[in-house]
This record gives sequence, C-alpha cells and structure tokens, in this order.
Amino acid sequence: MRWTTESTPRSTFRRRGVRLAAAAVLALTLAACGNGGADAGGGSAPADAGDSGGESIVMGFSQVGAESGWRTANTKSVQESAEEAGIELQFSDAQQKQENQIKAIRNFIQQQVDVIAFSPVVESGWDPVLQEAKRAGIPVILTDRAVDSADTSLYATFLGSDFIEEGKKAGQWLLEQPESSAGPVNIVELQGTTGSAPAIDRQEGFAEVIAANPNLKVVASQTGDFTRSGGKQVMEAFLKSNPDIDVLYAHNDDMGLGAIEAIEAAGKVPGQDIKIITVDAVKDGMQALADGKINYIVECNPLLGPQLMDLAKKVVAGEQIPPRVVTEETTFDQAAAKEALPTRQY
Ligand code: AHR
Repeated sequence: MRWTTESTPRSTFRRRGVRLAAAAVLALTLAACGNGGADAGGGSAPADAGDSGGESIVMGFSQVGAESGWRTANTKSVQESAEEAGIELQFSDAQQKQENQIKAIRNFIQQQVDVIAFSPVVESGWDPVLQEAKRAGIPVILTDRAVDSADTSLYATFLGSDFIEEGKKAGQWLLEQPESSAGPVNIVELQGTTGSAPAIDRQEGFAEVIAANPNLKVVASQTGDFTRSGGKQVMEAFLKSNPDIDVLYAHNDDMGLGAIEAIEAAGKVPGQDIKIITVDAVKDGMQALADGKINYIVECNPLLGPQLMDLAKKVVAGEQIPPRVVTEETTFDQAAAKEALPTRQY
C-alpha cells in the first residue's frame, strides 16, 4: 500500500488542527497557572506551539546518535536542510539505543507530526511502532538505514546508500591488489553496530566479492560499534591474537582511525605493514588516506538532508514518491583523496 493522494492532505490538516488546539489549551493552562510560558515541561510542548500560521510541515526526526564523523555531518545536513525548506524539525538523539528511538517515534505520533523520519539503529523490531504510525495516518521515511520488515507499506520510502554495494567496492579493490594473487592474505574486519543495516550489508558485500580468491581470508571479525574508541580497543585485541595481519577492513572511517592508533602503538606502520580499507570518506578519514595511513575509502554520503526534505514535502502533499532512493557515491584512493580534500564539505 502507498500513502494515498486524497487522504494524506486531509489528515494533515486535521493533525494541524489538533496541534493548534493543543497549543491553545497549553497557553490557557500556563496563563491560569501564572506561568508566562518560560517552562513548558520539556518535550511535552505541542509541535506547532511556535508555528506562526500553522502552515509549515512538522517533521519528527529520530537520529541514531553521535557515534561518528559521518553521523555529525548527517545531523547537520538534516537540521540545516529543514530550516532552508521551512520544515519545523522535532529532533531526537537516540544515543544508539533502539528503545530511545521507539520512545521518540511514539512521542511524535502523540504530537501528531505531519511526517516521521528516522535512521534505525538496528534493522529488526520496528513493526509494532511503525504500525502505530500507520494507524495514526503519519507517513514514515527511513533515512540512511533500512528496517528488515516484510511489510513495506509501513514506510513511504527509504532514502540512503546501498551498503551491500559499498562492501563489494571494498572487496573489489582488495581483489585487484597484486598482493592478493601472490599468496595468503590475512584480513581483520571491524564491524559496525551489531544488527545495524550497514554492518550486516557491508560484511555481506565484502565477503561475497573476496570469495572469488581463496588467498583472501577474514581471520577475525568483531564489532567496534562505529566508534573511534571501539575501533582502537578491538584492533589492540586483534593485534595481540593475530601476529600476521595483512589487511584491515573497517566498516567506517572512525573505527579505522582508532585502529591506526593501535597499529602505531604496536610499532607497525598503518597503510604499509597493514593495508587499510574503510567506508565513509569524512574529512579525517580522507586526511589519513592522503597521508598514506589508509589505502582506500568507499564513500558513504551523509548529506541526505535536501533529498529528505524534498521527499517529506511530497509525501505530505500526497504525491507519489519512489519506494527507494539510492544515494550516489564514489571511491577514493590516495591520489583522489589529495585532490578532493580542499573542497570536502564534511
Ligand atoms: O549508517 C551509516 C553509518 O553509520 C556510517 O557509515 C557510520 O559512520 C555511521 O555511524
């Protein structure tokens, strides 16, 4: 089922009516209590309380957290784009916890926002809350990460990268290196957050491609939770238990950067003694690539804000939108990183 052309605008007006009524009740209550409105009780203020004409779209956005440079750039893009598009953003940071995201989404439903967007911290367990949003007539846009729900009518669209493709690109680069045909290659893998779409898909895409060459063997694979500290800690353990590591494949730049610290502390040279492949291409990662400490980066574009606002406007207006919007991305070797760095936005 898709979000239909007739029913969405009508239900949107009804929701705005309810929000305005709620705002009026709140104002009267505060006046009766002699409170000028300075303290409205944290997150309980109705979404349209500060809306001048009740015309702007209200979007509830539940972000994963602030675990990486990529995430920071993504949050900035969403917040700036909402402002530019005249969309009122109710932003909530889940601190990498699914229960916080579920709470935030329920809160958005209660507030009767016009559209909910969220980047699911993990893939599974979303059906009940998405069914609640559907029953309330509020369209949901998945951004950045997917859910594994079999019922695709629970969300209007999914905007984000093809993570399997990213994993394949990382594997392809390794497959093409002359060392891969010369003899056994011991690979260690730093996975992203367990159960998250990028961790699952980047592992799958990479494994599928390197399977073409029996020399390429993943000797250890563990989560570093997409954080720099996680990457450092797990790499320290990898180095202790695997004396002959040839390649590190990290599911994001931050974990790769943490691992570089561990590699240097162990007296090895990152990019030479251990070849390093990462995903994201944030500035810090690109700098390490240009400096020769990383060998290859697969880009994952965090600047999803403008497309998200465009899709939100369309879905609220009841227009048809594609069920999947894939972000365009590239790859960088050391020379390409040097060229791109001066104009890199994030
Ligand atoms: O979902 C995108 C991933 O999440 C990014 O690759 C990673 O850096 C982030 O934390």
